[in-house]
Amino acid sequence: MNLEQVVPWGRNLKEYKEMFLLNEENITSNILGCGDGPSSFNYELTKQNGNVISIDPIYQFSQKKIRQRIDETSSIIINQLTENKDDFVWRNISCVDELIEIRLNAMNNFLKDYEIGKSENRYIFEELPKLSFNDNSFDLVLCSHFLFLYSEHFNLQFHIDSILEMIRVSKNEVRIFPILNLKNEKSIHLKDVLEVLENKGYKFKIVKTNYEFQKCADEMLRIIK
Ligand SMILES: C[S@@+](CC[C@H](N)C(=O)[O-])C[C@H]1O[C@@H](n2cnc3c(N)ncnc32)[C@H](O)[C@@H]1O
Repeated sequence: MNLEQVVPWGRNLKEYKEMFLLNEENITSNILGCGDGPSSFNYELTKQNGNVISIDPIYQFSQKKIRQRIDETSSIIINQLTENKDDFVWRNISCVDELIEIRLNAMNNFLKDYEIGKSENRYIFEELPKLSFNDNSFDLVLCSHFLFLYSEHFNLQFHIDSILEMIRVSKNEVRIFPILNLKNEKSIHLKDVLEVLENKGYKFKIVKTNYEFQKCADEMLRIIK
């Protein structure tokens, strides 16, 4: 991965709780976040005595490099968001300024925590579709705003391999949000992925969540092992 191709943008714990309908039991369980990037999910949950590991290819870079890239790209994102305001639901977050504040705050918390988190093996440089963890290592495996969202950049086989790998390292459950692509359309890979899961005997549900910022992106895929 070349950091110049990445536009870092991260959500916070409140958003993760809403996207994945995380209850008290989930929050205190042993979690793997795939593609957590510069979100503050790991930082905030660890502060609350949670037990979470995040993996992402951007964790191969130093804090300084990631901060630099966030600084370089923030203004581009702000302009794009302002131009495409109508593609989003301004309910929980009321305007672009508030969104920027929430995102920058999440990313600053991530950056503050990054070096210590790396030394504690909470931020690990790994990338789907291959994970180094043993089978059944985590109670719950999450993926926010990566699989399905980038369906035009990652093919069906990548999606199938990644999801089966997340299932392998999970004891109980995998949750993926959203199931739409960047154009707010249902991912072209969803139907085929569900067919593979069904053939392999995994139970799954598409569940409506408490989170909708990208228009119509309010459902997650829940796979029960
Ligand atoms: C849009 S960001 C989402 C960040 C975070 N999950 C959130 O919701 O705020 C997508 C993330 O996927 C990561 N990513 C890209 N390729 C990946 C791969 N092969 N495996 C895991 N994560 C990947 C990117 O580095 C980036 O941090």
